[in-house]
Parts: sequence; C-alpha cells; structure tokens
Amino acid sequence: MSQEKWAEVERYITDTIIRPDAALDAALRSSAEAGLPKISVSPPEGMFLMLMARMRGARRILEIGTLGGYSTIWLARALPPHGMLTTLEIDAKHAKVAAANIRRAGLSRVVEIRQGPALETLPKLEAEGKGPYDLFFIDADKPSNPKYFDWALRLSRPGSVIIVDNVVRDGAVVDSRSRDPNVRGVRRLNAMIAAEPRVAATEIQTVGSKGYDGFAVAMVIAPAKGKTSGPNP
Ligand code: SAH
Ligand code: DHB
Ligand code: MG
Repeated sequence: MSQEKWAEVERYITDTIIRPDAALDAALRSSAEAGLPKISVSPPEGMFLMLMARMRGARRILEIGTLGGYSTIWLARALPPHGMLTTLEIDAKHAKVAAANIRRAGLSRVVEIRQGPALETLPKLEAEGKGPYDLFFIDADKPSNPKYFDWALRLSRPGSVIIVDNVVRDGAVVDSRSRDPNVRGVRRLNAMIAAEPRVAATEIQTVGSKGYDGFAVAMVIAPAKGKTSGPNP
C-alpha cells in the first residue's frame, strides 16, 4: 500500500460521500493562495469532526490551532443556532485568512477567533468564565499537547469530548527515545491520558492524503477538578 493509493481512496471517499461545499472549497483555495501550509484536516476528517460535534450535541466548541479555518468551518457547521465556537491561533496572518474564510461561510456570528499564543489565551478564557466546552479540537503546536490537554480538562464537564490531531506521525510515536519535540509531546500526552481517571480514550490510526497519522478521542467521564458540573452531559 502506498501514499498514492491512500490519497486516491481519500479522493474517492470525498467525491463519493462528502457533499461538495463552496465555502469549504473556497477556504482551502484562499488558504493556498495566501501561502498557508497545506496541513488542514482532510474532507473526510472534517466531516468526522462535524459528526462528532453533532453526536455530542455540542453547543460550545473550543479549537486550538485555526490555520485558515477549514476545520473550524466543519465544526461550526455542527452547532445549533445559539452555539459558539472559539478558535485559538498564534499567527496573525493565519487568523486573518481564517476570518475571511469564516465570513464567507456565513459563520462569523458563531465563531470567535482569538489571536495569540494559546497558552496565554486559555487562562483568559477561564478567567472570563467561558467554559465548560462540550468539544475540544487540539491541533496546534504538538509539544504543547500535554498542556492543551490539561486545559481542555479544566474547561470541560462530564461528557465533554477531546479530540487531538496528529498522534501517530508516520509511526514515530512508538520511539520512546525520540528527540523530536513533536513526538515527545504526543508521548507525554499519552502518558497523561493513561494516568487520567477522568477520561476514557482511544487513538485511531489513519492514512490518506496527509500520510500515515492518527487522532485521539477522549471523553470526560467524571467531574473535572475544581469545576462544578454544568447541565446534563
Ligand atoms: N485545525 C486546522 C489546522 C491547524 S495547523 C485545520 O485542520 O484546518 C496548526 C495551527 O496552529 C497553525 O495555524 C499554527 O500557526 C497554530 N499554532 C501553532 N502554535 C500555536 C500556539 N502556541 N498557539 C496557538 N496556535 C498555534
Ligand atoms: C502538521 C501539523 C498538523 O496539524 C497536521 O495535521 C499535519 C502536519 C505539521 O506541522 O507538519
Ligand atoms: Mg493537524
């Protein structure tokens, strides 16, 4: 099996069962034109995120790592009329491209982009009383994954879903002696998940246009420390 085959099957799946969407296509096009890296989730993965949010009945979503807003648009499409998605992005240019893409998708009212390092924005969200969120999508700098996971727990409630992208990295994740900070970030995240009684979690390997990778899905199953639980999960 080859990269070429994985990409071909992804195209087949996309063309067969993912409905074409002008705003999503335009978001990819304008992101490419602006020179953003081509590392957004694939269309089938975007649909997966949308379905997860719908299945969770998510009304509040927190995304870490916006890029051009491609995954943001998929997730925001899952929200009910009074839902809210906050997305955190360090890069001013990415945030600007994303804002235009989100506007074109007609989602400016439900999406808030916060520009700045996520580890600075997260405490502000907490101080503003913004949580709890029903679904988190962690997809920014991989070395910070352990910290982002901690923050997700802090801003969660029982039933909240935490999805983390890029946890397999061509299989590099199995190398316990890796010096790659991205790999180390994922391995530390996994150690935290393993030791964390408040979550049930798994990781699913994926292949496709972006190679061999995977994502983690965790569900908060007990009240997060220091948080009163919100409405029923
Ligand atoms: N979720 C997007 C892809 C995100 S790519 C999608 O699938 O469409 C990762 C993004 O995280 C990049 O835009 C990068 O600028 C941003 N990022 C990296 N470090 C960050 C940090 N410390 N805080 C916030 N965003 C960060
Ligand atoms: C990279 C980042 C991502 O979020 C992704 O999905 C793929 C690649 C990267 O930084 O290389
Ligand atoms: Mg990613």
